[in-house]
Amino acid sequence: MFHTVAALFKAVGYAAALTAAGTVMARASLARGLPAVPTTLGLTRWAGVVLSVTAWATALLFFLRLGGDGSSATLKAIFLSPLGAALGLQMIGGLWVAVYAKRAVALAGALLILGAFGVVGHSASHGLQTSVTVVLHVTAAAWWFGGLWVLLVAGRTLPADRFADLVGRFSRQAMVVVCLLLAAALMTSALLLEFRLVPTLAYPRGLLTKLALTGGLLMLAGINKLILTPRLAVRPKARVWLRWMIAADLLLFVGIIATTAYVTTYLSPHAASAAMHTHQGQFQVEGPIGIADPWAPAMPGSAATGAGYMVIVNNQPVDDRLVAVSSPWAERVTLHASIMEDEIARMRRLEALPIPHGGRVVLEPGTFHLMFSGLYAPFVAGDSVPVTLTFEQAGRVDVVLTVHPLTRQRLPGHEH
Ligand code: HEM
Repeated sequence: MFHTVAALFKAVGYAAALTAAGTVMARASLARGLPAVPTTLGLTRWAGVVLSVTAWATALLFFLRLGGDGSSATLKAIFLSPLGAALGLQMIGGLWVAVYAKRAVALAGALLILGAFGVVGHSASHGLQTSVTVVLHVTAAAWWFGGLWVLLVAGRTLPADRFADLVGRFSRQAMVVVCLLLAAALMTSALLLEFRLVPTLAYPRGLLTKLALTGGLLMLAGINKLILTPRLAVRPKARVWLRWMIAADLLLFVGIIATTAYVTTYLSPHAASAAMHTHQGQFQVEGPIGIADPWAPAMPGSAATGAGYMVIVNNQPVDDRLVAVSSPWAERVTLHASIMEDEIARMRRLEALPIPHGGRVVLEPGTFHLMFSGLYAPFVAGDSVPVTLTFEQAGRVDVVLTVHPLTRQRLPGHEH
């Protein structure tokens, strides 16, 4: 439930951010020498306000999810974190753009909005390089989206010759911007996937869906440029057709934005790279491994790492090993054993966890556990945390851990 609402807020936030920053940039680069297009100013203002409100609502959602107690740990987890920094940039940037929409300083607000994409998310947590490429990618996408809005509105208000001039400018500048968008998209994808593409995995499939939808956009752009634009000056009907095509472009953008919100909320690029490292492309998607009672304890607000437990049963006639674990909730998931050394409990990182054929291994407090670090969201009782386990023989197994209150320390049957 939490993730569905968060994904919806994300999609609305993306659309508002691209509209607010995009219309400001596109007006600055396209409308030189042309009379202001007042209706796009209204659109920019609305988008800025919606972005700011969505950022507040997202902060409130996290606050409620962490118990809504207002303790310093909760407030720190929200405001003194990359998420807090990104939301802050969006709140300020959105309001700035709304207030100064008509003036050149609106561009500063657009910069804040676009900078937020380099602070939080898969790309931001992967390193500086992907932070930079994703900001370039989103900047180019915003200009394209904003430019289409400007054209749509101008198509209704500008005289024919001025409109034809504006469309010509848009199409020249768009050639450069679209190349930048695709180059930055491919670079970000390659870095996140560590330069290997396995199209059967969910994350790369999400990216391929975006690529296909972007291909649709480019097709429409080609028709606009080669067929409709040259006829603008001579055929009034061409203008009507062009406005319909622009509306179709904007709809495709909405599809891409929804796909992006889904990919960044539910899927992980790390699942793809873990599976590729372990099986060099030969891994199977299903295998006869049984999982019982996958669960995780809720985390106290200040904790930076989480743990996960379950029983793994190997029904295969051969021994197997759990070799990699990943989750879209965390930057890394590692395997650990708890061992007693000189009567002190210590943790040891394991490269792999052997599961004998016909046997089982119990991950529970005091024996083995999965450790989640670089968490995007802390575990709260009632959450469902998706996890992908990769076995040497059985391939990939997807499980969902149920988060229980902190008091639960043992598996059912072991409880006293
Ligand atoms: C007009 C088309 C596109 C739009 C509007 C668009 C929009 C976006 C947005 C808003 C983000 C930011 C996500 C975030 O950090 O929260 C993003 C990220 C990304 N985009 Fe695109 N995109 C487009 C095309 C593409 C294409 C064609 C690809 C490549 C196949 C691509 C690959 C990526 C990747 C890899 C990320 C990082 C995702 C992550 O952090 O997991 N995008 N895009």
